[in-house]
Amino acid sequence: MGRTAHESRSVSGRTGRDSLVAMPPPSITIRAGNPDFVEYPWEEPLATWDIPQLVDLPKGISRHTVRFVDTGGRIYVIKELPERAARNDYEVLRDLEGSSAPAVVPAGIVTGRTADRHAEESAALITRYESFSFSYRELLAGAGFGGNRTRMLDAFAYLLVQLHLTDCFWGDCSLSNVLYRWDADAIRTIMVDAETASIHPQGLSDGRREEDVAIMIENVAGGMADIAGLAGRSLDEADLMMGEEIAERYRDIWRELRQDEVIPAGERYRIAERIERINALGFDVEEVDLVPVTGGSELRFHLSVGGRTFHRQRLRDLTGVEALENQARQILTDLFYYQARHDGANPALKNVSAVRWRASEFESTIIRLRSIDGVSDPVQAYCDLLYHRYVMATEQGRDVPTSEALENWIAAGRPGYPPPG
Ligand SMILES: Nc1ncnc2c1ncn2[C@@H]1O[C@H](COP(=O)(O)OP(=O)(O)OP(=O)(O)O)[C@@H](O)[C@H]1O
Ligand SMILES: [Mg+2]
Repeated sequence: MGRTAHESRSVSGRTGRDSLVAMPPPSITIRAGNPDFVEYPWEEPLATWDIPQLVDLPKGISRHTVRFVDTGGRIYVIKELPERAARNDYEVLRDLEGSSAPAVVPAGIVTGRTADRHAEESAALITRYESFSFSYRELLAGAGFGGNRTRMLDAFAYLLVQLHLTDCFWGDCSLSNVLYRWDADAIRTIMVDAETASIHPQGLSDGRREEDVAIMIENVAGGMADIAGLAGRSLDEADLMMGEEIAERYRDIWRELRQDEVIPAGERYRIAERIERINALGFDVEEVDLVPVTGGSELRFHLSVGGRTFHRQRLRDLTGVEALENQARQILTDLFYYQARHDGANPALKNVSAVRWRASEFESTIIRLRSIDGVSDPVQAYCDLLYHRYVMATEQGRDVPTSEALENWIAAGRPGYPPPG
């Protein structure tokens, strides 16, 4: 079992068992970088497997048989289910891989395990085990949220938001299907189980999103009732409204991310404020579109929200400027702000204004920053300056030119970002 598949391919997995010789062998498709899984007893029901690779790990409640195997360092999860559902699960998880929505990573799919393609044992999905992860269901059936209730519910809601931003309708968001794990001091939530999910490149309507939210509310209430029942508590004690609470958070986050806003033309710094709030939620802003309204005295702006590794590349593409990811995010905000002040009404000028911004704003400021004694990292200093300019703008309620902010920043002793909290 030490072999590794070098590309996604299908191979015959039958190992010559007498009882099933009349049947064609199961078809095993494994993605590159994973063991080939050829020697596993695919013709037998997963529940009856008795192979040394099996390991016991905690898991959520599941309709299907789910087992874990250790392939020599890496752990995989095998789920047995009918072929159609397995294919859907596999394909949606694969599509999500390139997106910013976190989901378990599919490693392969096995079909043709039984003559009947609709049989429960007809197929199997293999995913990479998400280390250090637990389902909400396990947590709530055990220790509970403790002091982390708010953060845990936010993290749950974020996952649904991220999926909807990726145009993914889940159809089965539940306590067992949301995994969480700690990531430094943050909570990362991960989708498991995409059997009922579908991706709609044309976008999800509000009605469709609400339908998904309603399924979540029902599933969560069912899960909470179940947990209470198993613990011998009455339904009155079960937190049946928890799904509603998650839905409320979901809607708040969605509104913050997606709602168009109209601002007075002289208060463009409020775009930066909104971007800050969105960044604080853990999302990134890819683009800002501005349309003048009410004869130009107001601007309507719309933000496109994306993943977390986007900015460095975007800044490089647009301007040729190299920066770290978070620096790039700050600097792009500056570029958007510049565009809003100069060419906001004309999207066709966006690229031209990016070049103009680099020459007139960025380069000249970087040269000036480099010449200051004690400034060792001019790009970081530029970011500090941007933050300072933003503070001045919010205090004074007006757009502050960079040159003015620079003099003020130097006079103030070149302050950096305030510490978190
Ligand atoms: N890749 C993975 N990493 C970690 N845990 C996993 C993974 N895949 C599945 N699990 C665990 O196994 C459980 C069941 O998996 P899954 O939800 O895919 O099964 P299911 O039978 O389709 O569930 P449902 O009853 O919701 O249809 C999950 O709740 C999770 O705890
Ligand atoms: Mg499940």
